[in-house]
Amino acid sequence: MSTIFLGRNQDGEAQELRLDRANRHGLIAGATGTGKTVTLQGLAESFSAAGVPVFVADVKGDLAGLAVPGSAKFKHADKLEGRAAELGMDDYAYADFPVIFWDLFGEQGHPVRTTVSEMGPLLLARLLDLNETQEGVLQIVFRHADDNGLLLLDFEDLRSLLAWAADHTDEVSGEYGRVTKASIGAIQRALLTFESEGADKFFGEPALEVDDLFRVDAAGRGFISILAADKLMRSPKLYATYLFWLLAELFETLPEVGDPEKPKLVFFFDEAHLLFDDTPKAFQDTIETVVRLIRSKGVGVFFVTQNPIDIPDDVAGQIGNRVQHALRAFTPRDQKAIKAAAQTFRINPELDVATAITELKTGEALVSTLGEDGAPSVVQRTLIKPPQSRLGPLSTGERAVILGASPLAGKYDMPVDRESAAEVIAQKMVDAAATAAEVEEKGEAEVRKRERKSTSIWGKAISRGTKVAAGSAAGMAARTVLGKKSRANPMASGVTSAAGSIATDLAGPVVGSFVRNLVGGLMR
Ligand SMILES: Nc1ncnc2c1ncn2[C@@H]1O[C@H](COP(=O)(O)OP(=O)(O)OP(=O)(O)O)[C@@H](O)[C@H]1O
Ligand SMILES: [Mg+2]
Repeated sequence: MSTIFLGRNQDGEAQELRLDRANRHGLIAGATGTGKTVTLQGLAESFSAAGVPVFVADVKGDLAGLAVPGSAKFKHADKLEGRAAELGMDDYAYADFPVIFWDLFGEQGHPVRTTVSEMGPLLLARLLDLNETQEGVLQIVFRHADDNGLLLLDFEDLRSLLAWAADHTDEVSGEYGRVTKASIGAIQRALLTFESEGADKFFGEPALEVDDLFRVDAAGRGFISILAADKLMRSPKLYATYLFWLLAELFETLPEVGDPEKPKLVFFFDEAHLLFDDTPKAFQDTIETVVRLIRSKGVGVFFVTQNPIDIPDDVAGQIGNRVQHALRAFTPRDQKAIKAAAQTFRINPELDVATAITELKTGEALVSTLGEDGAPSVVQRTLIKPPQSRLGPLSTGERAVILGASPLAGKYDMPVDRESAAEVIAQKMVDAAATAAEVEEKGEAEVRKRERKSTSIWGKAISRGTKVAAGSAAGMAARTVLGKKSRANPMASGVTSAAGSIATDLAGPVVGSFVRNLVGGLMR
């Protein structure tokens, strides 16, 4: 059994996190400036050293320092070295860790792209801030694309499809349920706003292969994937939805492993409260399910947030490992948070938790971790160990050096544009115009004769779509398993009820696949 050293309690006893319990999720909480980021950094280092890959969003740009060793000359050096001495860490030394930089905007790291289809209508609707009716329409449009083998890769595809649907509302409504020009117009406007934020860049290819988050370096250390999130944080909903998409993507892709010796990946969700802010119930249920089930896939999720009551009970109930930094006691809400935090710990008769929470110094925390039997340890007041890498950002030059040496250099950096819905629809328009011209010239009867013989553009699109899907056999297998599982899975029912009004409009066997389609990115 291996463990990660977290720090020492007041009696000098080491406080540790068991690697075989790290998939039982964690919480790092505390008021601003109390030491959350430093705790996170130290944990990320230890996971990496233990061969566990890590994913972390860098909200303030200060985690990039993981890539370079700390230095006696750097600010904070006295704090780090002082803490190391306090803890009797004789072997404390500065060190760097293997890092891969990512950036949705492609500026400070490799671009993280996904396709519109993979994001799916549910998450896309949330990104676009659509209401329930508009979400229903988006789902129908996705369904239509699916049934016609139209690939939705980038925004261009979605735009073309929506424009086409706006001109063919009767056809689409007849097939799937009511679609109005007004609601398509609303989606189109939301898309425009989204694009003006530069967010359309995230959609397209080459899309992220999640395997690249599981890399280990030549020395057996796990790579720490750092997503630049400073710019992204300007749209908090985009940030939270995107990170959740990534979790859901991991959830779908990974096989069941139960409780592994050590996690396959540890995912730090900083500013986690954003995920739960004004979240509709159905979406919250989906989050809860993904968090619950992902642990048996060997992924540990550590939520980082200022106030622990920001995490809904259903999710908080699944958190086994806790590092609670100081909380302030100014407002009634603060008081409530302190009480709630105190109640989540296993009682230590020698420690008045509610009082201690307000007295903890910077870099000190109340710590409780899961033991072998799965029970939480008695809470201990703990001085947290100092990280070995730099506390703080990298210079542009330093970042360029790390990026240049990245194992993924060149893989994602240039976008590719293969034939997808936009091109197929454009071709369809051209064909329609050509046909109209031909009808004028040769007469309708003559053209009809020819039309019957040739494959329609939709037919061609379907065979093309099939070929692409067949290309990723592994992806199809995962989808099939998930499709089956989803029926006995509360996630499916949560989503069904969210979209109940639409689903009930549909008859018979259509419903099953339609519901699966609703979950979009989650299920495929
Ligand atoms: N374990 C530690 N050892 C030594 N110094 C620490 C430790 N933890 C925190 N500090 C010191 O406290 C400062 C603030 O910590 P940190 O940035 O982690 O706070 P935070 O809780 O993330 O704040 P915010 O909510 O504003 O992001 C650090 O820059 C560092 O100087
Ligand atoms: Mg911080």
